[in-house]
This record gives sequence, C-alpha cells and structure tokens, in this order.
Amino acid sequence: MQILGIETSCDETAAAVVADQSPRIHASLVLSQLAEHQRFGGIVPEVAARAHLAHLDRLVSRALAEAGAGWADLDGVAATGGPGLIGGVMVGVMLAKAVALARGLPFLAVNHLEGHALTARLTDDVPFPFLLLLVSGGHCQLLIVEGVGRYRRLGTTVDDAAGECFDKGAKLLGLGFPGGPAIETAAAAGDPRRYPLPRPLKGRPGCDFSFSGLKTAVREIVAARGGPTALAAGDVADLAASLQAAIRDSLVERTRHAIRSFRGSHPAGAHLVVAGGVAANRALRAALSELAAQHGLGFVAPPPALCTDNAAMIAWAGLERLKAGLADGLEFAPRPRWPLDPKAPKAVGAGVKA
Ligand code: KG4
Ligand code: ZN
Repeated sequence: MQILGIETSCDETAAAVVADQSPRIHASLVLSQLAEHQRFGGIVPEVAARAHLAHLDRLVSRALAEAGAGWADLDGVAATGGPGLIGGVMVGVMLAKAVALARGLPFLAVNHLEGHALTARLTDDVPFPFLLLLVSGGHCQLLIVEGVGRYRRLGTTVDDAAGECFDKGAKLLGLGFPGGPAIETAAAAGDPRRYPLPRPLKGRPGCDFSFSGLKTAVREIVAARGGPTALAAGDVADLAASLQAAIRDSLVERTRHAIRSFRGSHPAGAHLVVAGGVAANRALRAALSELAAQHGLGFVAPPPALCTDNAAMIAWAGLERLKAGLADGLEFAPRPRWPLDPKAPKAVGAGVKA
C-alpha cells in the first residue's frame, strides 16, 4: 500500500510518498517558506497560502519522481485537513481531492496533530496505547493514544505552547526565527543555572502547562540589562540555557504526572512518545528518556526531521486511517480548529492568556 501525503497547514510546503512495507518513506520533501516570511517578522497567512499554491504542484511531482511512482501506483491521497492556517489547508486539500477524483482514489483528510501523534508508529511500530507528549509551535498537550482516531487528552497549555515559548524567548534575545533551534544552539555554550527562571505550575496537580510567565521573566531580565543589543554573547548563551532548562523541567514535571494517570488507566501501556517540532530538542529528549526509564516505560522520539512539520507523517496517518476504513468523502471541509479529543475538559485556568 502506497500513499501520497500533502502538508500545507503552516509555513512549510511538504509532499511525501509512504508505504506500509519497509523502507516505508519513499520520498519526503519539505520546502520552507522562511525567506518569504522573514521580511514581515512572522508568518503571514495570506503569504503562506500563496506560496503553497505556487510550489505544491511541482513538489508533488518531484516526490512521486523520487519515489519512482506514478499516479497508478498510489492507493490513496492524504492531505492535512486542519488545524492550521485555513488558506494553506485549503490549497493542500483541494489538490488531494482533485487527484482522488481524477484517479478514483480514496481521499484522507488528516488531522495535523494525528500526523505528529502517529509518527512513532511510522518509525518504530509503537503499539497502542501509548502516552504522548505533543509539543509544537501551536500545541502543547499530553494525550493517551488509544488507537487511530482515539485520543484521551490529559492536559494542555493554559496560555502559550512550548514552541511558542522558545520562539518568543529567541526573539527577546535577538536570535531570530524559528526560535527553538536558535535557543538550542546558543544554550550549548551557556550555564543553565545562571538565571533561576520560574518552573510554571510546578507542584500543582494535573497535567496542564503554562509558559507565558516564563516569557515575561526573560523579557524582564533582558530589559533590566538594557535590551537585547546590550547583552554580551555569554549573557545570551546563559539566558538561552536557562530558558531551555526551564521549559524542559516544566515539560518533564507535567509528563511525570501524566505517567501516573496513564499507569492507572492503561496498565498495559508500555511507551512514552514525544512528537512535534520541540521534540527535536536534545535536552528535552535526554530528560524524557531518563523519565521513561525511571518508570519502566520504553521511550520513542522520532528523528528530528520527522518531529518538525513534514508530509511523511500525513501520508502515514492517512495510511493508518485507510487501513482502519476511515477514508473521507470529497465534501470534507477544511477545519481551522480540530481538537484530537473533542470531549476533553478545559485546561485549569484556561482563558488567562497573557
Ligand atoms: O511541529 P512544528 O514544526 O510546527 C507546528 O506544528 O507548530 O513545530 C515548530 C516549533 C517551533 O516553535 C520551533 O521553534 C520548535 O518547534 N522547534 C524546536 C526545535 N526545533 C523546532 N524547539 C526546541 N528545540 C529545537 N531543536
Ligand atoms: Zn506541526
């Protein structure tokens, strides 16, 4: 079984061909729009949608060529159906529907978050159920993954996502976008104990996260020292290391709580999985690996290129959905918001966004 996957929900245009037989990934191309957005200082939805439109056809053709596959070799077409920037999602969904209609193939509208969630099964065949820490630029959640399309959310952020905290912290330190990799690089030469930043929600029960206070603490330190241009390279490194340590500790502490819940409700579950762009962070991967070992759980973190946005994860989630008989109709409408667990209770303190 071979699936074409398309990802256009944010600022990366991506196309991939993935199969159920090893080697699974036959092609996975990611085109970053970084240069297009840099002059605006952030992602502009309209610019993103136009860039997807300009590049997607060519990228899909290249992915098929690289996989040595023609349309006739495909068993389905999957595209991110949400959540994300709606103009971009529409571009990917329209192309996937057109191919599905023209070739008589099943169409699969994939939840971008499910793409991240199932990546550990693409790379490591992790069995259900598993505990998932999903950490990206827009999301920060702890979920029990019970099966394809079956998620139980244990916690989410009450304000910023972890990736957002890396990105905003990097901006405050004058390190550019995307902030996660920039902070990680700067932190390598820094002292994580120099600035005792807060560990938000530490000691509180539950599995929710909060990161906006951390961003405020960094802003105050930078302002007190005369702004980012007044910081010496050593200060930037120490602040980056301190911020990375604070984000890591918060994620680990809340995940520890989640392991307790997971153990109680799903005693057969044996794995902790991390996914999403922030899962590329080495300090976080090391700390989570240790946490999992302490609790006798296996730990899986996909390779960094499959943590950040890509289309292989969309093709794989599409493949799993097709096998589960979950193909979509062509009437599917793109969804700007699309929670994995619609029945999840609201986060404690939700709505206190700073
Ligand atoms: O999953 P992703 O590519 O896009 C979303 O769906 O949001 O995640 C992007 C986020 C950005 O906030 C970026 O700064 C962060 O992942 N990120 C990292 C690293 N690489 C990417 N954060 C920390 N360390 C990294 N190495
Ligand atoms: Zn993502």
